[in-house]
Amino acid sequence: MTSGGDAPGMNAAVRAVVRCALDKGLDIFGIRAGFQGLLDSKFEPMNSRSVGGIIRTGGTILQSARCDEFRSSVGQMKSLENLKAAGIEGLVVIGGDGSLRGALALHKLGFPTVGVPASIDNDIGGTELSIGTDTALNTIIDALDKIKDTATAHRRAFIVEVMGRRHGYLALASGIAGGAELIVLPRTRIDKQDTARLAREAFERGKPHFIVVIAEGASTERRTGRDDVHEAILLAGFEVRMTVLGHVQRGGSPSVTDRILGTRLGAEAVELLAAGQSGVMVGIQGGKIISSPFETVLSTPPILNEGLVALAEPLAR
Ligand code: F6P
Repeated sequence: MTSGGDAPGMNAAVRAVVRCALDKGLDIFGIRAGFQGLLDSKFEPMNSRSVGGIIRTGGTILQSARCDEFRSSVGQMKSLENLKAAGIEGLVVIGGDGSLRGALALHKLGFPTVGVPASIDNDIGGTELSIGTDTALNTIIDALDKIKDTATAHRRAFIVEVMGRRHGYLALASGIAGGAELIVLPRTRIDKQDTARLAREAFERGKPHFIVVIAEGASTERRTGRDDVHEAILLAGFEVRMTVLGHVQRGGSPSVTDRILGTRLGAEAVELLAAGQSGVMVGIQGGKIISSPFETVLSTPPILNEGLVALAEPLAR
């Protein structure tokens, strides 16, 4: 199943799971729309042709959902009964941390379950990269490059908000790769005078634009990051425009990195299940495919590369 926010490369993982399972002589079913499909017994037999041509497509052919009912023990027991009634012996859950929590619940009920990390936010412990992140970054960079053209033409400031939930990975990586003048992370304390000074100094240094990449997490849960930066730039006396990239970041044909990552992780998930393992998530560390217990993954907060954070300021000069 694929579950939670879709991520480009999920289909590559589905394809790898299906074809590697078939290669082992296993029967394989897709579950439609994540944990909701599990509750509704939406099991569909799959074969090699069911996953033909999907490695290049975004979204997920299995569809996805965020499902509250599964969070209850009643929902979990019902799902377990449905799996057993359908004769299913193992489950691969492809999704983000919420989905992995669901996977952990099934594992605890004794059902063999392996997780595959997929989320554009790159906020999952136990892997240095989750499926979808690379494609989302490329989409953001494409948008930033275009915004720079118009910002330069008008000598304007732009605030570009990117996704990432409470994590700042997308903002940090795209801000560095896109040459932003300022990167605002969820943890950034925004000082309006300081921000105004940065904008003023950038234009005085001859910059033709002032591009701020801001993480959505800086403006959620009663934080007012976006508005504060906007006010600060106006205070400095510059024209400013705001672009919220939104769900465009979740779509599109997956990058080569996401196709290969999805393929490797999907294939390993099948290997582990077939070898009798359960309660683990596959991931990538230092180029190697590894696996870690769900509990470890879910209790490991995502971290940002502090070396990259430290580079943001000097690189914006
Ligand atoms: O987790 C992926 C993500 O795209 C986040 O970056 C974003 O905050 C959230 O999902 C949006 O969720 P929804 O698609 O339910 O609006």
